[in-house]
Amino acid sequence: MIEIVQADITTLRVDAIVNAANETLLGGGGVDGAIHRAAGPRLLEACRAIPEVRAGVRCPTGAARITPGFDLPARFVVHTVGPVWRGGGCDEPSLLTACHRNALALAREHTIDSIAFPAISCGVYGYPRNAAAGLALAVLADEQHRTRTPHRIVLCAFDPSMSEAWRRAAERLHVDVVQ
Ligand code: APR
Repeated sequence: MIEIVQADITTLRVDAIVNAANETLLGGGGVDGAIHRAAGPRLLEACRAIPEVRAGVRCPTGAARITPGFDLPARFVVHTVGPVWRGGGCDEPSLLTACHRNALALAREHTIDSIAFPAISCGVYGYPRNAAAGLALAVLADEQHRTRTPHRIVLCAFDPSMSEAWRRAAERLHVDVVQ
């Protein structure tokens, strides 16, 4: 089941929350900053311990990495890096799709049964929210239909306009959601 909530993702009592990070995994603003503040300094230490795949890159765009949640209610943080919106012609949709699929693949590997996603790339990275909302709903519904786990997927909006965008996308795509 997919749920749409409006909340500060760091407060959610789920097995894992997804972080909209950058490729360094060394923190930032937005939801990345909120998660690091709430998880405490051990989160940054755990991120630093993740090996770089190339200079300055611990998590390439579209990929996902997992750490403990430390001081968060969530046991895990699944860090993923969304694409910066450059007009739609630079593979942004397939990279944003990969973020969601790779985050769920890691969740399944760690027997995570409930996971919350923020609106990846819809802040600083400038992805148009309606396009991102439709993509996320389609991918998450497809993944849940095919694999049945995680049992509970939460889309966590920080403002009404994002929860509204997800609700409209769910209607458009005929995806059953709990609100
Ligand atoms: N809980 C839930 N959602 C939140 C929270 C929060 N506490 N704080 C912000 N958001 C929402 C924003 O309103 C936006 O809809 O998360 C969405 C993603 O916005 P950003 O955090 O700006 O992430 P993104 O657009 O993917 O940009 C990533 O920003 O913080 C840096 O280090 C990060 O460089 C990376 C970039």
